[in-house]
Amino acid sequence: MKQEVITSKNLQQDIEGAIRRSPHDRLFVLTDTTTLRLCWPLVCSMPCFETAQMITIGDTDDNKTLDSLTHVWTALQEGGATRHSLLVNLGGGMVTDLGGFAASTFKRGIAYINIPTTLLSQVDASVGGKTGINFGGLKNEIGVFNCAVSVILSSEFLRSLDHKNLLSGYAEMLKHGLISDEESWAELLRFELDSIEHSRLKIEKETVPQSSIFNLQSLYSQLGALVAKSVGIKERIVEEDPTEKGLRKALNLGHTAGHALESLAMEQGRTVLHGYAVAWGLICELYLSVVKCGFPKDKFRQTVLFIRQHYGDPDIDCKQYERLYAFMQHDKKNEGNSINFTLLGGIGDIRINQQATKEEIFEMLDFLRDG
Ligand code: GLY
Repeated sequence: MKQEVITSKNLQQDIEGAIRRSPHDRLFVLTDTTTLRLCWPLVCSMPCFETAQMITIGDTDDNKTLDSLTHVWTALQEGGATRHSLLVNLGGGMVTDLGGFAASTFKRGIAYINIPTTLLSQVDASVGGKTGINFGGLKNEIGVFNCAVSVILSSEFLRSLDHKNLLSGYAEMLKHGLISDEESWAELLRFELDSIEHSRLKIEKETVPQSSIFNLQSLYSQLGALVAKSVGIKERIVEEDPTEKGLRKALNLGHTAGHALESLAMEQGRTVLHGYAVAWGLICELYLSVVKCGFPKDKFRQTVLFIRQHYGDPDIDCKQYERLYAFMQHDKKNEGNSINFTLLGGIGDIRINQQATKEEIFEMLDFLRDG
């Protein structure tokens, strides 16, 4: 399930090259309403898109539905797509997941290319072949494993992303650092992510000289280098275990508690970005890692401090522990009756299929809430 991942230095050259390497009769581009407005203009004048047929869906995760999927299949059919057609997904995780699934199932599968436009989709969703839609109230309930032929990563798209969405993607990068090696983890804690926002705001208010624009460019290119490294970590894991039988479960670090926090927020009608829930889930699961697997306390403290400083605290109290526990019990990653965690014995020392008692889980939530 090897896929080509391109860290782009020249967007036009890299997109045209990837499209050329995928021979096709007709070309389709899938966007959502936001990426149509903000990202498509960056690429639409490229000659390779001259004859492309556009398909657009709504722009939030509640559009990751069978209805949107039907819309894409219909547009492909009415646009004359054959088995030899190519779909380019230009957007965040919702577009790459849904578009990947639409391509994987149309006429038993056509090729697709991902051009992820959010940090979250660049470092996670667009790479590794997980495709799908939400169904019956459950996230990613229906889908298949099937990789894009190429994934093109460019920090050009990240410039229109607000700080919260940058932070949301950065949480998955932190996770990759934690499951990989100490140097990658330390580099992520050192990177001046907030400077991107400060420089952007100053430039918007025109209170800074031209040199700050160069500073911002340099920060985006440093971020681009961190993204490439982060995706490399994910790629190595996915190559070894494409269908999540073992090692790929490492990528679930922070997600058992994180998904529960996300589901609780959804149930209460609050919006929590996925990466914020993952960041808080990392606090939870590193706490369990310290208690159960001897994860070093100094590295635990440094990571928790970074997360609290950047992501704040989740809006929960102890009356919600039972509900959070119930969400964890229904996590689709569980096997049998027990709640399945991925924990760490140290940075890069992955321990999959770990269980915790209800008491330990409640203690973990106490730590998340009170520190
Ligand atoms: N998002 C985790 C994975 O791709 O396995």
